[in-house]
Amino acid sequence: TPETCSCGFFHEDRSGDPTSQLRKALGETGYVNPDRTAYVVLEPVQGEGGYYVPSDSFMEEIADLCDTHDVPLIVDEIQSGMGRTGEMWGSDHFAIEPDVLTVAKGARVGATISTSDIFPEKKGRISSTWGAGDVVASLQGALTLEAIEDHDLLDNAARMGRHLDELVADADLPAVVDRRGLGLMFAVEFATAETRDAVVERAFRNGLLTLGCGTKSLRMLPPLDVTEREIELAVELFEETVREVTAAEAAD
Ligand SMILES: Cc1ncc(COP(=O)(O)O)c(C=O)c1O
Repeated sequence: TPETCSCGFFHEDRSGDPTSQLRKALGETGYVNPDRTAYVVLEPVQGEGGYYVPSDSFMEEIADLCDTHDVPLIVDEIQSGMGRTGEMWGSDHFAIEPDVLTVAKGARVGATISTSDIFPEKKGRISSTWGAGDVVASLQGALTLEAIEDHDLLDNAARMGRHLDELVADADLPAVVDRRGLGLMFAVEFATAETRDAVVERAFRNGLLTLGCGTKSLRMLPPLDVTEREIELAVELFEETVREVTAAEAAD
C-alpha cells in the first residue's frame, strides 16, 4: 500500500527519518499553524476511500506530531471498529494512543469515546446522524460488544480475513490488480472503475453481495462470525463472477 499513493502521507521512509506532507505543513513550512489546529482526525483503515491501510511509520509519525504540538488525535472507527479488523479497534493495530474514538455502525449507535481530560465533565455521549441512538439500539450495541468477547470473534475475524485473502490470491485472477485490508475489512482492486462496477453487479446476480469503495475497488465485509465454508463459497462465487466479466470484456 505505501507505494500506491503519491500524496506523501503513505510514503514509508526507509531511512528511519520519516518526512510527510503533514510534518512539513505543521512544522517545517508553517503552512498549518499548530496553535490553530483543533484536532487531527483519521481513519485507521480508510473506508469509503478504498480500504487503504496506513504504514506503521505513518501512524507513529502522526501520533508523534500530535504529541509535539499538543493536538488531540481522533480516530474514526466507524468502519474499522467493533472487531471488523480482527482487533476491537482498527487503531489497536498501531503504536498510537488516540484521545478520542468515534464509533457507529456495528455499535448500532453513534458513540464518542474519549480520555477523561478531553471531556472532563462528560461521562458518556451517545448520539448520531447514523442509527437511532435510542435505548434499544444502545442495548444492541452493548450486546454486540459482549458477543465479540464471548464468541472470540476478534480471533475469527483475523483468521477468516487471512483465509479470504489467501483464497483470492490463490484464485490468481489477472483482473485483480491489488488486494488489501485488515481482518474482515477486505478489498480487491481492478484496473478500471468499469470492471469493478461490472463485477459488483454480476456478483449480486450470482448471489454475492459486495460494495464498491475508492475509485476502482470492491469490498467484502462478511459478518464477524463468518465460517470457513461461507468464505470458500463467497470466493467461488467471486472467482466465477470475475472470470465471466473478463470473458465478456474480451468478447466486446
Ligand atoms: C468512516 C466513516 N466515518 C464517518 C461517517 C459519517 O457518519 P455520520 O453520518 O454520523 O456523520 C461514515 C458514514 O458512513 C463513515 O463510514
